[in-house]
Amino acid sequence: MNTKIKSQPTIFVIFGGTGDLNARKLAPALYNLYLEGWLPEQFALIGTGRSKLTDKEFEKRMRKDIDEFSRSGKTKDDKWEGFGPHIHYYPADVQNADTYQIFVDHIKELEDEWKAPANVIYYLAVAPNFFPVIAENLAKAGLTADADRARIVIEKPFGHDLESAKELNKLLNGIFQDKQLYLIDHYLGKETVQNIMAFRFANAIMEPLWNRNAIEHVQISVTEQLGVGDRLGYYDGSGALRDMIQNHLLQLLCTIAMEPPTNFTAEEVRNRKVDVLRAMRRFTPETVRDNTVRGQYGPGWIEGKQVPGYREEAEQQGVNPQSNTETFAAIKFFVDNWRWQGVPFYLRTGKRLHRSASVITIQFKDVPHFIFPAETAETRRQNRLVINIQPEMSIRLQVQAKRPGVDLVLNTVDMVFDYKGTYVAQAPEAYETLLLDVMLGDQTLFMRGDQVEEAWDLVMPILNSWENRISQNFPNYSADSWGPEAAEALVAKDGYHWFTIPLETKK
Ligand code: BG6
Repeated sequence: MNTKIKSQPTIFVIFGGTGDLNARKLAPALYNLYLEGWLPEQFALIGTGRSKLTDKEFEKRMRKDIDEFSRSGKTKDDKWEGFGPHIHYYPADVQNADTYQIFVDHIKELEDEWKAPANVIYYLAVAPNFFPVIAENLAKAGLTADADRARIVIEKPFGHDLESAKELNKLLNGIFQDKQLYLIDHYLGKETVQNIMAFRFANAIMEPLWNRNAIEHVQISVTEQLGVGDRLGYYDGSGALRDMIQNHLLQLLCTIAMEPPTNFTAEEVRNRKVDVLRAMRRFTPETVRDNTVRGQYGPGWIEGKQVPGYREEAEQQGVNPQSNTETFAAIKFFVDNWRWQGVPFYLRTGKRLHRSASVITIQFKDVPHFIFPAETAETRRQNRLVINIQPEMSIRLQVQAKRPGVDLVLNTVDMVFDYKGTYVAQAPEAYETLLLDVMLGDQTLFMRGDQVEEAWDLVMPILNSWENRISQNFPNYSADSWGPEAAEALVAKDGYHWFTIPLETKK
């Protein structure tokens, strides 16, 4: 999280420069940072990839991508004249150690020209099997030695399981100091997710309520309307648990469940989050059966358009048409500590669902004694705090009120903090916040190796059970639904239901 200071001279090297992540997220984020005056004058973006492109060709390509994907719309000529010349490109085979000399030379050239040393950020926007070789080759070329200036950003997935995550951590820790490592979970950069910490820790009224005495249960839903699409090759080896729960949803849970840090520094915040993961109840094969649900979408219709099922898409893309990969997961977790003992946290996520929305709902306990006539009880509800992360950005506290009139009727009303109604400025994209934080050397919103390992440790028994037990009923939910029926049963057996995603959050 930044204050308005500019970083030192910065060179941003993007491995996977011609890839999708750069096109959709990194390039637009850097351009918007430029537009808003966050980039230093002495800034260079070096893209690298296998394609043989010139600087100009790469610049043209980036502009096209930014035009398509930036929240600020199409680039304007006068602005581009300022930004474009910062862009460079080198075709490189990342597996060949010799090619890294190009970066050594180019960095030196820029530093000579700027007459100042630069922070150099190596962004690995490549398939995870290239992480080790790039890290090793950077080290061999001497590019990682300056621990104050060289930083490496690693995208998810960080490991495929606990074992591989440990291996990767070991390798990276052998090359880099902790302060050089930036493991991305882009959910942490989302404006509304950062605000959970402000909401909890900058308001005195929250803390007395934020525990098992007042809270009955918590729901975290990250639902997506889109299917897996052309990422199926990657996704089939991953599934919803690895792709979303192990990282994004568990991080949301940590942000809700963490103890107040002593101060807002990277170490403190990350220590408190890792405490939550450590306190989470581990699963056995029996508890996996009772507390988890997986699903895979079948064909159906979404907004009047016919859409294929996961297995049909798999077949079209040359992947196993009998795939056992889950595209939906719902899991009941517990955090075994004083604050949260006995409070279930229900997490669900899935693709091809009825609507796209990320919502955290905290349901408070009922009043200890209901004093009003019994007939008024019908429409009343327990208090809920609804944190809408996206697309609606708001926090709603649902309370009971008397409807105006001579009779006594209670209904639920919302006390609302809505970004749209409160602020004029557009919220930055998660990647803007995160890239700026890397430049400024702030790791607060990044994952640390031990957090990633704890999260893997927690989900491993579920992964193992699911992998050992082929699902007999896939596909078990249709497009445009809210997932398999068993997910409803998971909460219904505790007397709850999944809260409706508010209508105004329609995609
Ligand atoms: C990514 C997952 O990390 O997050 C995708 O790999 C998912 O499968 C995406 O669609 C969701 O991110 P967002 O920001 O669109 O909610």
